[in-house]
Amino acid sequence: KHSDIPKEEGLDHSLALIQEGYEYIPSRRSKFKTDLFETRLLGQKVVCIGGQEGAELFYDNDKFERKGAVPKRIQKSLFGENAIHTLDGEAHEHRKLLFMSLMTEERLEQLGELTREEWRLAAAEWAKMDKAVLFDEVPQILCRVACRWAGVPIDAIEVKPLARDFIAMVEAFGAVGSRHQKGRKARKKMEDYFEGLIVEIRHRRMEPIEGSALHKMAWHRDHKEKHLDEHTAAVELLNVLRPIVAVTYLVTFGALALFQHNVWKEKLQDGDEESVQMFAQEVRRFYPFAPFLGAKVKNDFEWKGHTFEKGQLVLLDVYGTNHDNRLWEEPYVFNPERFRNWNGGIFDLIPQGGGDEATGHRCPGEMATLQVMKTSFSFLTNEMIYNVPMEQDLSYSLSRMPTYPESGFVIQGVSIKS
Ligand code: HEM
Repeated sequence: KHSDIPKEEGLDHSLALIQEGYEYIPSRRSKFKTDLFETRLLGQKVVCIGGQEGAELFYDNDKFERKGAVPKRIQKSLFGENAIHTLDGEAHEHRKLLFMSLMTEERLEQLGELTREEWRLAAAEWAKMDKAVLFDEVPQILCRVACRWAGVPIDAIEVKPLARDFIAMVEAFGAVGSRHQKGRKARKKMEDYFEGLIVEIRHRRMEPIEGSALHKMAWHRDHKEKHLDEHTAAVELLNVLRPIVAVTYLVTFGALALFQHNVWKEKLQDGDEESVQMFAQEVRRFYPFAPFLGAKVKNDFEWKGHTFEKGQLVLLDVYGTNHDNRLWEEPYVFNPERFRNWNGGIFDLIPQGGGDEATGHRCPGEMATLQVMKTSFSFLTNEMIYNVPMEQDLSYSLSRMPTYPESGFVIQGVSIKS
């Protein structure tokens, strides 16, 4: 059967994808005026979908699965091999409960307290320095937060290189060449280290706090009542630690937004809970982070007159859906007000995936992400004084994945409000 949807001609467009980054899918969707087009990537036929209905389709477990959907290069840098991201069905749901069990109200509150504490300590150091670069400093703050929250002892660890390795793993996902290789090496090193910790725990030579991620990963039993093998336990522990450090990207963009939208800085200084929530949501919607997601067609099915074929790779346009003008008024304007009476849809705001987190692959860390972001923004506005020197390049490239302000966001004249 002939393709009935717009098709990008040519043998392969992987290079265009790497070069155009966040705009690759959205620009073609707008050129073809469609939520559905076909292209060729990594040597295979790929269908790209987007928009609210596209997201709803993508998270239909009867139609899609993740087995074989995550390229090895992403597994070897960002997620780890055989991680939750690649599981389906019962195995997935069971593993997902493990992650969700970390997100109780009490544990999230503790995450906020740790975040505030580490900001205070870091800011006191910056007060003695001539300048601080947020994109270099925040990973260290969040690395301490992540380890302490997860029950990983940090006294014996040098935090700076560890934080750098977590960032390297994230930096690798949209890169080829040395930036990608650096991420793979960082992952290998970390997996070895954390596998060692799991072994120590299982030999009862170490006793992490009950309820912590380290404790849970070490003693979790899968849907067949078996402990995770040591490697997988380490991989999944890293799937808690790394993304917490990755909130750095959103915190840095948030600092940029506070600088460029002074009225929001003032609103956050008033300290009302609703403002900081709306501000954080808009930072997640507006700024680029996850560009798109992939899944494979489970069995042939039809959608909007097009036949999706079993085994085919389908990409969901995350960045484009967060900027879809049918869902968001003036999507390219930063405006937290849009979240004041937001209906809380599960297929429109999808920076961390869509659908139901318990049954699908939607990120289980959204509440944790918001907690870290909100605590950081409150600290920046209410507990710290700083200036943002003009001599820096605050622009960010949409063709680089992931991306952040060119200068890393430099601040000066730091002091802590008394
Ligand atoms: C999955 C984004 C923070 C843990 C995901 C997915 C995205 C995402 C896009 C994939 C959804 C899918 O495959 O359908 C983000 C962003 C974060 C963040 C942008 C903030 C910087 C966190 C945090 C944690 C976390 C703080 C844990 C503490 C996970 C896990 C999965 C996941 C375990 C896999 C879920 C599954 O496959 O079922 N995240 N995340 N993430 N995230 Fe996050």
